[in-house]
Amino acid sequence: MNILLLGKNGQVGWELQRSLAPLGQVLALDRHSREFYGDLSQPERLAQTVLAWKPDIIVNAAAHTAVDKAESEPELARCLNASAPAALAQAAAQTGAWLVHYSTDYVFNGQGQTPWQEDDATGPLSVYGQTKLEGEQAIVASGCRHLIFRTSWVYAARGGNFAKTMLRLAGERERLTVIDDQHGAPTGADLIADITAHALRACLLQPGLGGVYHLAAAGHTSWHGYARHVIDQARQIRPELPLKVSDIAPVATSAFPTPAQRPLNSRLDTRKLQQAFGLALPPWQIGVNRMLAEVL
Ligand SMILES: NC(=O)c1ccc[n+]([C@@H]2O[C@H](COP(=O)([O-])OP(=O)(O)OC[C@H]3O[C@@H](n4cnc5c(N)ncnc54)[C@H](OP(=O)(O)O)[C@@H]3O)[C@@H](O)[C@H]2O)c1
Repeated sequence: MNILLLGKNGQVGWELQRSLAPLGQVLALDRHSREFYGDLSQPERLAQTVLAWKPDIIVNAAAHTAVDKAESEPELARCLNASAPAALAQAAAQTGAWLVHYSTDYVFNGQGQTPWQEDDATGPLSVYGQTKLEGEQAIVASGCRHLIFRTSWVYAARGGNFAKTMLRLAGERERLTVIDDQHGAPTGADLIADITAHALRACLLQPGLGGVYHLAAAGHTSWHGYARHVIDQARQIRPELPLKVSDIAPVATSAFPTPAQRPLNSRLDTRKLQQAFGLALPPWQIGVNRMLAEVL
């Protein structure tokens, strides 16, 4: 089994290098790769990589993920998030490869409190959300065999993340203000990568399982609840840590204006994925606690 992995150094891409390894030979690329081309900014050259190497599976973990920056560079965001997946999908349709791709709850408008289901009406609020939606639509329209996982609030132990930022600020300040009106489930890149490998294996045996799935840890919280959990856990795991913070105050999204509008409701209903693949998604606290145990 030959697997082409794009975006090997991102949060999810890094974990996929591990989780895909038992499935076959993984050719892992980033935008600097030379022998085979892995830069999403030239979609036609990406397609040539697929046609030349003829992988059985393409996993695209690369994307334009800078949500605020995308507002001021929509052409680049569209190229990376829509045109590149479209080119991969067309090449996959030609060669018969599976295409695994990641999308986001930002394809929805964030209204209400009900977890989003896969076939709910979309309504992106930002360039990032709009271009990710266009990427999904191009993959479906290509007719290639595909798995599209919409996920949310992704973190990893490697690199920067929200929890690490909160811990740093908690060491510097007595009072933190954190957004309390956006709700979602912090989801580990390791969980996404593991579910990807399990789902892919099932699809190879039963191709009818392909489609769009919501993939997030169970439960939900706000950024404020997430921050409080991180600080409480840090104090339990490492009581000697010099954390100054004594007040973590909830504030509205409007307290932190950003170029891109964020959805208030990022909850994802994951029942379709759990039922189709016979998998269980653990509560978000389990993965966050594990990540904290690694980074502290
Ligand atoms: N992060 C989240 O909270 C979140 C939420 C929902 C959905 N998602 C989706 O999940 C997927 C994985 O996200 P992630 O959190 O792992 O993102 P990430 O850590 O930002 O990784 C994205 C990767 O894409 C690469 N990339 C950017 N431009 C590229 C280009 N022109 N050519 C090739 N590679 C390029 C980046 O490479 P460099 O390191 O070289 O820049 C980076 O390694 C994405 O599809 C994202 O839209 C993420």
